[in-house]
Amino acid sequence: MSKIILTGDRPTGKLHIGHYVGSLKRRVELQNTGEYDDIFIMIADAQALTDNADNPEKVRQNIVEVALDYLSCGLDPAVSTIFIQSMVPQLTELSFYYMNLVTVSRLQRNPTVKAEIQMRNFEASIPVGFFTYPISQAADITAFKATVVPVGEDQMPMIEQTKEIVHKFNYVYGETLVDPKIMLPDNKACLRLPGTDGSAKMSKSLGNCIYLSDSEQDVQKKIMSMFTDPTHLRVEDPGHVEGNPVFIYLDAFCRDEHFAEFWPEYQNLQEVKDHYTRGGLGDVKVKRFLNSVMQAELAPIRERRAQWEKDIPAVYEILKKGSERAEAVAAQTLAEVREAMKINYFDDMALIKEQAERYK
Ligand code: TRP
Repeated sequence: MSKIILTGDRPTGKLHIGHYVGSLKRRVELQNTGEYDDIFIMIADAQALTDNADNPEKVRQNIVEVALDYLSCGLDPAVSTIFIQSMVPQLTELSFYYMNLVTVSRLQRNPTVKAEIQMRNFEASIPVGFFTYPISQAADITAFKATVVPVGEDQMPMIEQTKEIVHKFNYVYGETLVDPKIMLPDNKACLRLPGTDGSAKMSKSLGNCIYLSDSEQDVQKKIMSMFTDPTHLRVEDPGHVEGNPVFIYLDAFCRDEHFAEFWPEYQNLQEVKDHYTRGGLGDVKVKRFLNSVMQAELAPIRERRAQWEKDIPAVYEILKKGSERAEAVAAQTLAEVREAMKINYFDDMALIKEQAERYK
């Protein structure tokens, strides 16, 4: 069986380092293994509109931002098909058929939907489109016959819901859809990067993100003012590395070779952690090291972004070509779905003949 990847992001803002360690970096690595027969990377504008219906301009402006972030991280349009969700209308038709296979109570139990309803104060008036977005996500995944969906852990309930739809569809209409597998980030620290202020999550509204498009100075400023261990008041005090965002970022970004380059007093992160825990190691030193590590990772991304920013029409051309290709693939799956559901009336000569016979 072929190995196919589909994943994507909502274009509601520039992507930050949480997106990077949580999924973007992995996607580029997966792309570069050459092991996949096809890779689809989707800018989920239609899904973004499910909770931004009154703000289409935000979605519109952020499509190019997300595309720039993709290209600057090293996604290669010659290998990975980058496309815009709403430019593939087959996805909406698939969603409509899948809706018959999902109950309202099952959607209500979806933990991600539940959490988002609370976060957005939708309790009293949930938009139907928002409520059903897990179904549309199942359409995104199955339209491309994805076998692997690399996403963050928050997307686990979406993939579970997709698998249920696949099983139900295949049971009711015959083996048609491909059962996808979730692929979570392998580094524990990458499951969810906290904000620079120590909040559980990076979020634009909290102003605690480091963006891939931030300048060198911005990144440095944000790192040097990061929240650390509030009990580590004096350098000699013992410190805590657990739950300390500076160390969580180091877990996510730093490799042993960074020590030789930026901090030769230590061989590896464990030695730094031990020293910090014992006491006698100041936050500023650790932050300076983190800054060096992060700048080393982000500099090539920033440089590639600057190149692409000079040719925005080329970025749109990539999205257009990608969307055309995505549409062709989704159309093929939709044809198979229609055939399985017996709603392919005009292609079914047997049906026409049989009914003609019956009325003779
Ligand atoms: N829900 C994802 C997010 O919020 C975006 C998304 C939409 C997606 N469709 C998808 C991810 C299909 C993986 C597969 O980031």
